[in-house]
Amino acid sequence: MTEDLKSEIRMVVAGQERTFTLAVGQTVLEAAEAQGLDLDHACGGVCACSTCHVKITAGAECFSPATEDEEDQLDEARDVGPESRLGCQARLERAPEDGRVELEIPDWNVNAVREGGH
Ligand code: FES
Repeated sequence: MTEDLKSEIRMVVAGQERTFTLAVGQTVLEAAEAQGLDLDHACGGVCACSTCHVKITAGAECFSPATEDEEDQLDEARDVGPESRLGCQARLERAPEDGRVELEIPDWNVNAVREGGH
């Protein structure tokens, strides 16, 4: 079967739900940008900030594991939990069996985007 190359993502951004697709090999940030979703990425996606912080609430096991660098950056982020990842580093490595991935972007993070940072 080749149709499992893309997964449908249910995403909650600041309380609003929307759906987009994430292809195997893409990061969350790449997929978001390709589909017009405004996910902050102050450092340009090189693991040097934590503004692309997302929470992967379903399908997290299908993503590339976090590196030490990513974990260091996440230490700086607000409201971090076990589901936290950097959107520019979390790359989908295989499609989840049920085809579902769910993400949350904390609404304070969206506000930070609008206000241009801290
Ligand atoms: S955009 Fe800076 S760490 Fe992801």
